[in-house]
Amino acid sequence: DTDLLVDRFGRVARDLRISVTEKCSLRCTYCMPAEGLPAIAADQLLTPDEIGRLVGIATARFGVHDIRLTGGEPLVRREIVEIVSRVRAAAPDASVSMTTNAIGLDKRVHALVEAGLDRVNISLDSVDRQHFAELTRRDRLPAVLTGIRGAIDAGLSPVKLNAVLMPETLRGARDLLAFAVEHDCRLRFIEQMPLDADHQWAREHMVTAETLLAELGRQFTLEPLGRDDPSAPAEEWRVDGGSSTVGIIASVTRSFCGDCDRTRLTAEGTVRSCLFGDAETDLRGLLRGGGSDDDIAAAWQGAMWAKPWSHGFDTGAPDPETFAPTTRSMGAIGG
Ligand code: GTP
Ligand code: 5AD
Ligand code: SF4
Repeated sequence: DTDLLVDRFGRVARDLRISVTEKCSLRCTYCMPAEGLPAIAADQLLTPDEIGRLVGIATARFGVHDIRLTGGEPLVRREIVEIVSRVRAAAPDASVSMTTNAIGLDKRVHALVEAGLDRVNISLDSVDRQHFAELTRRDRLPAVLTGIRGAIDAGLSPVKLNAVLMPETLRGARDLLAFAVEHDCRLRFIEQMPLDADHQWAREHMVTAETLLAELGRQFTLEPLGRDDPSAPAEEWRVDGGSSTVGIIASVTRSFCGDCDRTRLTAEGTVRSCLFGDAETDLRGLLRGGGSDDDIAAAWQGAMWAKPWSHGFDTGAPDPETFAPTTRSMGAIGG
């Protein structure tokens, strides 16, 4: 089909992730260097208008139906409410969501919902203040919990919580699940991928889904439910026979690249077909150079056609033959 974002392997992208800034109020060790990422000049960022135009092309031409705003931290972008409005106006029928650390979310959640936001996924690795401060290099757990409460009170359900599996996460995993059950949030644990700016990731040190399941099993009875849909990254388990579930995104030990339906835009307006590798195709130049929707669509399709088969570190060490490290860290791609 000439009107889809399809790759050489037949995968079709229906899920668009847009990073809106490289800035963040935290410095998670698995994501960012301590000093933060090099600043992007304001005039290099896609404007709300430009984001709206690209979302219009993605939804109307390519049938993209899920739009997720990421960062960095989307809430530190001053124009975030306007961005949500533009996205909503361009894609009235799409699901519009945000992945955020929740700092300041309580203050802006009503404006965001009014602008058209449907859902939030909140990064929370631990409810232990000391562990949280070590993992994020900032003592901001109280602000995050206030933000989570704000999202719940605003009726943005289900609120999903994302916890990247680090040693501290594992130690607090049962407390975190108890917190999620108590607040009716959908917790997902995520295997750490080699996307830390400091290149400290090592396969032999990473915490796996298997280790986590054993740890949770000490306190909870877990019944496997599988995936919500085939392209969902998380496998789900029912908790203690109740209505709560816990998910695991096992990107490393049980990778799901074969079902990937994602296309990504960086804050500077380049398309990435994959989290990994360095291939990026510039759309901002076309937007600002008078390119037509046809020109932009063709460039986007070309970028996605070249999508790699997989990240390649699921099969071995990382295997130097297939593993494509990326010069961008997670904070610059948006997860
Ligand atoms: P939902 O639609 O709510 O399920 O969102 P999501 O899980 O797709 O998005 P979220 O931003 O919460 O991402 C959760 C984690 O999934 C991220 O940390 C990523 O690490 C991982 N993830 C998302 N997309 C991909 C992908 O294309 N490849 C890999 N390997 N991991 C991904
Ligand atoms: N590996 C896996 N997930 C990561 N995230 C950030 N860095 C990594 C990494 N190295 C997660 C964050 C956020 C999501 C968008 O990506 O927890 O919730
Ligand atoms: Fe910030 Fe999110 Fe990266 Fe943590 S994972 S440093 S909250 S962008």
